[in-house]
Amino acid sequence: MNLTGRDFLKLADYTPDEILYLIDLAEELKQKKKQGNSHASLAGKNVALIFEKTSTRTRCAFEVAAHDLGMQATYLGPSASQIGKKESIADTARVLGRMFDGIEYRGYGQEIVEDLAKYADVPVWNGLTNEFHPTQMLADMLTIREHFGRLKGIKLVYMGDARYNMGNSLMVTCAKLGMDFTACTTKTYYPEQELTRYCQNLAKETGASITLSENVEESVKGADVIYTDVWVSMGEPDEVWEARIKELLPYQVNRKVMEQAGEKAIFMHCLPAYHDLNTVIGRDVHEKFGLEEIEVTNEVFEGPQSVVFDEAENRMHTIKAVMLATLGE
Ligand code: CP
Ligand code: NVA
Repeated sequence: MNLTGRDFLKLADYTPDEILYLIDLAEELKQKKKQGNSHASLAGKNVALIFEKTSTRTRCAFEVAAHDLGMQATYLGPSASQIGKKESIADTARVLGRMFDGIEYRGYGQEIVEDLAKYADVPVWNGLTNEFHPTQMLADMLTIREHFGRLKGIKLVYMGDARYNMGNSLMVTCAKLGMDFTACTTKTYYPEQELTRYCQNLAKETGASITLSENVEESVKGADVIYTDVWVSMGEPDEVWEARIKELLPYQVNRKVMEQAGEKAIFMHCLPAYHDLNTVIGRDVHEKFGLEEIEVTNEVFEGPQSVVFDEAENRMHTIKAVMLATLGE
């Protein structure tokens, strides 16, 4: 498998075999790291990390992975560079492409990262856009495979806001890898029709299934994975909280949902999560709307079925695999 020189912008651009190859490579790199075996095969290379939105996991995963591979990483934060304000994406891409061997971009529209990739002569990696979060997908699939020993045939139920980056990406990933995907939410928050149709067609080839349903009990029964994400994503205005809470509260992941899913089910969340009052936004929502926990209850988040920190760790191993594969092993 040779992925040298490729961009990593969305999972739709990758074949199932290529996706599985990246997950295998991440597993190998994870073992190397645990065994203390050095794997600094990209020494002398440099990567740029552009973040127009904030991040803990993705930024740290890229930085640690780059260092482990022997590379230097330069972080360009939300207000630290000329990007978008004084310099277009096309110009930025051509400048950074002359200095760096690879560029990570986290920001708003998918078209921005696609543009960056078009104009930069080096691999560009999507660290999250409004539409997709592909590096998160590899970490999630590695985590599921570590837990169940397989991906094909796994039933994943995504609850909450399914029309944003996480719902979209999980639907595509499940369709690619022959998994059973259900978006369990109100119709307003179903993934966009065109993407759903693309995934349904893909599912016919891979043996996957794509279901959209408003019924919690029916959807979660027999699920292997219950997945949720925040109800208001980065870049969305605070005003939408009220409607989101009203519409999505029936889709909160709580004890009842996990019981209906059954003992073998695991709980996943890309994080950060609002599961208690230990965040500024969590407290703000509590003050305004009286909720102490939002998309997931603290009991489930901290409970025995939760694998959220394995998932977070796997961000680093999988991002390392993407950089290694695309920069040339
Ligand atoms: N899951 C994830 O992307 O987390 P960060 O926003 O902290 O990078
Ligand atoms: N949907 C969330 C994902 C965070 C990793 C957001 O875009 O803010």
